Amino acid sequence: MTTWTSDQMGPRLGESVDALETPVLLAHVDAMERNIREYAAVADQHDVDLRSHVKTHKNAELAAMENDLTGDAGICCQTLGEAETMARNGLDDIYLSYQVVGESKLDRLCWIDGKVDALATTVDSDATVDMLHAAAERNDRTLHTVLEVDMGLNRTGVAPGDAPALAQRIADADSLAFDGILAYDAHVKSRASTEAEFEEEAWAAMELAQEVVDDIEATGVPVEEVKVGGTATSRYSARHPVVTEINPGMYPFNDVGELELRSWEVSEADCTATVLTTVIAVPDDDRLVVDGGSKTFSLDKPQMPVPKHRDDIEYVNASEEHGWIDTSEADETFEVGDRLEFIVPHVCTTINLHDLIVGVREAEVADLWEVQARGKVR
Ligand SMILES: Cc1ncc(COP(=O)(O)O)c(C=O)c1O
Repeated sequence: MTTWTSDQMGPRLGESVDALETPVLLAHVDAMERNIREYAAVADQHDVDLRSHVKTHKNAELAAMENDLTGDAGICCQTLGEAETMARNGLDDIYLSYQVVGESKLDRLCWIDGKVDALATTVDSDATVDMLHAAAERNDRTLHTVLEVDMGLNRTGVAPGDAPALAQRIADADSLAFDGILAYDAHVKSRASTEAEFEEEAWAAMELAQEVVDDIEATGVPVEEVKVGGTATSRYSARHPVVTEINPGMYPFNDVGELELRSWEVSEADCTATVLTTVIAVPDDDRLVVDGGSKTFSLDKPQMPVPKHRDDIEYVNASEEHGWIDTSEADETFEVGDRLEFIVPHVCTTINLHDLIVGVREAEVADLWEVQARGKVR
């Protein structure tokens, strides 16, 4: 089923992948569903909710699929525009893991709150608490509020020692309901490179989360929710009893970054988002050029695209519409028109470059998912 319509010539359901115009972003659906079920099993095992982060694909149908396969715990969004897109398309339990700042944006947040069954949002300062409270009063709503605590990423989040006072401020605000804390643990990724280190660092982060919870509760404010983690960390953090919910986003797809980070548990077969390209030039025996460059693959991280199912060629450089491939190690002779498939380096930002994700089963187009919240950065 698809909700996508367009006047453009584009992929059609049932069409052979061999016939698709390139470059084209593919999602291998069977493996994608397997990844989703695997995380659902991890969540089950540790008795935590799995609320998928839809920032990765920005499509309501995929969000609903994740929600169905993971036990109906709702979804997570990063921008207000994503949350609106999801609410308008029937997703009715949304957590916005981001601070909303500005009156008109806060009024939009209150509109979403009136539309869905459950909404919660994030604060991490006196200013964001007070603005949210003013918006709730202005719009006659009670807004569910999660306090973000900085676990070590040094991005957003209140310092752990300041969390109890801010939790109290939320609890004291008539039109806010204090749900708990967001203890996003992505700093673990830069500290750990083996399974044992992931276990150790994630556990240490959750011990800190436990201390924060105890300190808040000591002031008489109950902490119902402890939300953590992305794809790499959440399966480790979930082992700690303090955690109530995990919020991974990339896990249906993985990418080269995840492959490099956790080689003991992510294989090429688990990397379900790829771009199919066409060879447009073969200047000499040692190199060729494909039609996918930096406007097709996001190169915001150090990783390059990785050829799927082969290690004899290497994607070495990109200009906007050109991918430069080193073929010096390959025995094969390449020709203009050959097709090459690459695992995407960073899936969230790569999907964000495309209008459409083409779901593939057995080399045929099985689904078409518009990247609906693409550009919805406000
Ligand atoms: C607060 C928060 N939660 C969850 C996620 C999802 O993490 P991942 O993309 O590693 O799955 C992100 C990603 O940036 C995030 O910022």
